[in-house]
Amino acid sequence: MPASTWRLRSDAWEYLRFAVKRLALGSDDVDALASDSEIHRSLRALETIEMYWAGFGQRYVRTIGELLEDGDYRTAFDLIGRVVHRLRGDTVPDEPRDEHLEEPERPETTSDPDPRPRFEVLIIDETTAADRDTIRSEGLRLRSPADAFTYEFVVVPSADDAVAAVLTNPHILACVVRPGFSEHTHQPLSRDLRETIALARSQVSEGPASSHSQLASVQRVLRLADTLAALRPELDLYLMAGAHLEDLAGALTHRFRRVFWREDQLELHLSLLRRASHLYDTPFFTALQDHARRPVGVFHALPVARGGSVVSSQWIKDLAEFYGLNLLLAETSATSGGLDSLLAPTGTIKKAQDLAARAFGARQTFFVTNGTSTANKIVHQALTAPADVVLVDRNCHKSHHHAVVLTGAKPAYLEAYPLNDFAFYGAVPLDRIKQLLLDYRAAGRLDEVRMVTLTNCTFDGIVYDPERVMAECLAIKPDLVFLWDEAWFAFAAFHPVTRRRTAMNAAKNLEERLKSPAHAAAHRAQQERLHDADGAPAPDEVWLAQQLIPSPEARIRVYATQSTHKTLTALRQGSMIHVHDQDWEREAEESFHEAYMTHTSTSPNYQILSSLDIGRRQVELEGYALVQRQLDLASSLAQTIARHPLLRRTFRVLTANDLIPAELRGVGRPMPLRHGLAPLWEAWAHDEFVVDPSRITIEISRTGVDGDTFKHEHLMDRYGIQVNKTSGNTVLFMTNIGTSRSAIAYLIEVLVKLAERFDAALSRRHPDDRAAQDEPLPPLPDFSAFSPGCATDAALPDGDMRTAFFAGQQRRNTEHVFPEELRARVAAGERPVSAGFVTPYPPGFPVLVPGQVITSDVLEFMAVLSTREVHGYDPQRGYRIFTTPPSDV
Ligand SMILES: Cc1ncc(COP(=O)(O)O)c(C=O)c1O
Repeated sequence: MPASTWRLRSDAWEYLRFAVKRLALGSDDVDALASDSEIHRSLRALETIEMYWAGFGQRYVRTIGELLEDGDYRTAFDLIGRVVHRLRGDTVPDEPRDEHLEEPERPETTSDPDPRPRFEVLIIDETTAADRDTIRSEGLRLRSPADAFTYEFVVVPSADDAVAAVLTNPHILACVVRPGFSEHTHQPLSRDLRETIALARSQVSEGPASSHSQLASVQRVLRLADTLAALRPELDLYLMAGAHLEDLAGALTHRFRRVFWREDQLELHLSLLRRASHLYDTPFFTALQDHARRPVGVFHALPVARGGSVVSSQWIKDLAEFYGLNLLLAETSATSGGLDSLLAPTGTIKKAQDLAARAFGARQTFFVTNGTSTANKIVHQALTAPADVVLVDRNCHKSHHHAVVLTGAKPAYLEAYPLNDFAFYGAVPLDRIKQLLLDYRAAGRLDEVRMVTLTNCTFDGIVYDPERVMAECLAIKPDLVFLWDEAWFAFAAFHPVTRRRTAMNAAKNLEERLKSPAHAAAHRAQQERLHDADGAPAPDEVWLAQQLIPSPEARIRVYATQSTHKTLTALRQGSMIHVHDQDWEREAEESFHEAYMTHTSTSPNYQILSSLDIGRRQVELEGYALVQRQLDLASSLAQTIARHPLLRRTFRVLTANDLIPAELRGVGRPMPLRHGLAPLWEAWAHDEFVVDPSRITIEISRTGVDGDTFKHEHLMDRYGIQVNKTSGNTVLFMTNIGTSRSAIAYLIEVLVKLAERFDAALSRRHPDDRAAQDEPLPPLPDFSAFSPGCATDAALPDGDMRTAFFAGQQRRNTEHVFPEELRARVAAGERPVSAGFVTPYPPGFPVLVPGQVITSDVLEFMAVLSTREVHGYDPQRGYRIFTTPPSDV
């Protein structure tokens, strides 16, 4: 079973078309006849799948089966063609209709294509075929050509089928629950889908059994509503009941947008359209378009506005020709006339941000027009001050290190586990974070620790379990603030498996969990095990061995920064900050606004803002479809490389077994998605770390070239393929929501050509040269230490990096030294101190920070690094180090 039935469905129809065409053409070769059993298998699979999609349906599949049985291949081929055309997004060709072949249930499927956006509505009820026909014809009757959107109904009888439909059909945007639904499916579902349904349904608690039939009915309706909402929060849920409507309405209104009387189809119809138009609404983008259409006189400082300085010029006309005049018509610095001010939003920008908060599951969302580099600085400045200690993943993006310089907080670097074989880092094991917090507690300095900053997921796709990390850290310090750098993870909110590991979802779940009496009891019981009779904490080993349970009094204060532009639709630099902070008003709101003012331009780019607004519309309406397809394509890329005889000889796809140490992997399989959605779900629910399946890292040492050469000379120069991260022996291929099947096919084609080339080159190479290629890389250096003058105390790792940074800016305090000489000095026992950041890019995290002691490990690592761009290191002059230790400056 592949990851999504999107592929299964379209592949099965495509296959059917191919096989039946041969029969229709009268081919009597052995292959055509042999495909007979395959045809039947596809038909059986499609009969199940089509139950979950509007448009054609099970009866349509059965009709095709009957035509094939009768030997009417030509008509069957025509019917199959209509589906294939629709799935490909093509128009259905005009063709003479054969009454016998008309799909009686759904006549609209063969009509002309409708250009309006279309969605599907799931009705869950045990119904008769006649009921279903009534529902559909009633729905059709209510539709009008004036409606902005169209929709079709999918009707399923049971809760299992509802979950299957919502998982497999991303076009479903609304569900109508009718209490007559049954619990279990009668469909012959694949094992993976059955297991996934069971996992999805087990996530929602059963609630106490009730013998009172009406209460029991309310509970099962609630359970189904909760299950569907947990899977796809963007779904609009309605309840439609007959008897006892008023009682149900009282008990159930929180879960449903509206509760309807069974006969009230018109109200349902209007609500569905209204809700779709709410999701579709893009307040700022719409305001900007209105502005562009309006005749406006420009008397402010923006010459390109309305095309002013461009269209009248004979020299730069090509700017408008290339980008189109709308770009210039939409350029303005006005904050009135329907537009709004990013710095003090009260109108369309405020509304757009609120809608983004809804989409990403945040309490507040803020747009940032200068990338996550700026978003990170805003959050650091908002939440930390010079005396604070911040636990920072050293492997994190340079913006965090720069932020710490700006705020003057003292970073205590957390060490991610190194992946020495591939020269990059993984992520920070939870035990290390806990241990560091316990060390601060033992030193009596836990009060100073204010924030923990981690990157989720990492550039290479290692994903934390933020709920677990935050819960266990809060058990040691209940008022910690968390900043999750989700620069690469904005897409994750739109798939039920990946959403669990987003900061916002984790914050919401944790807050809920902390409220429950069961949690309070578990916390009390654990505290007894963690303390002796006098209330003194048990030894650290005891705290490390247990999964710590936070106090119900702990505060949930969580911030996530996302480069929307990296994984979703947004112009470059379009980022968002999402907030779930229980102490927002009391502790953060004002300082956040100050920080936001500090870093936000007074001339923010409106095109970026409107792209964030419309990108939000897209993910709410089709995020699930896009992410599902992306994961599926990435998985097929990984599988093709791993199975193709030549590719697998030349490249190795790195799996969880390579990227996560065994003790941190738990129950996960090397590539869970290869085995289906259920194994992926299990791994993402339980393992400490998982690998983002949308990223494929391949190991290339057998090609005989390093990652940088592979990227520039082979992929880019020869074939125009761009990738943005390599290490000495790896290349990272990222898929995104815009990746197409053809792009994957092209990449595979290119990899095959390259593999042939490398294979030939390798066979010509002398065996001694080949051995030289396999030299092991030196281990990645841990953070050495801050020099004594910068370190706060000798026992703990934090230091005053800001003082070191500014001291390092004074020329008189520093000198440049070439690596060889520095190596000699270190060998002679000196402890030189870096005067600045040294950051190879990519991956973009500093190997040296200001005030850090330079060790031989660092020098050795830098010596073999193949990255071309190293910020802060001057190849003409060497490393910049202090002549006088920073404390004495
Ligand atoms: C983890 C991480 N955080 C933040 C950033 C900065 O994001 P932006 O490019 O949106 O400024 C990057 C950029 O690569 C990154 O990898």
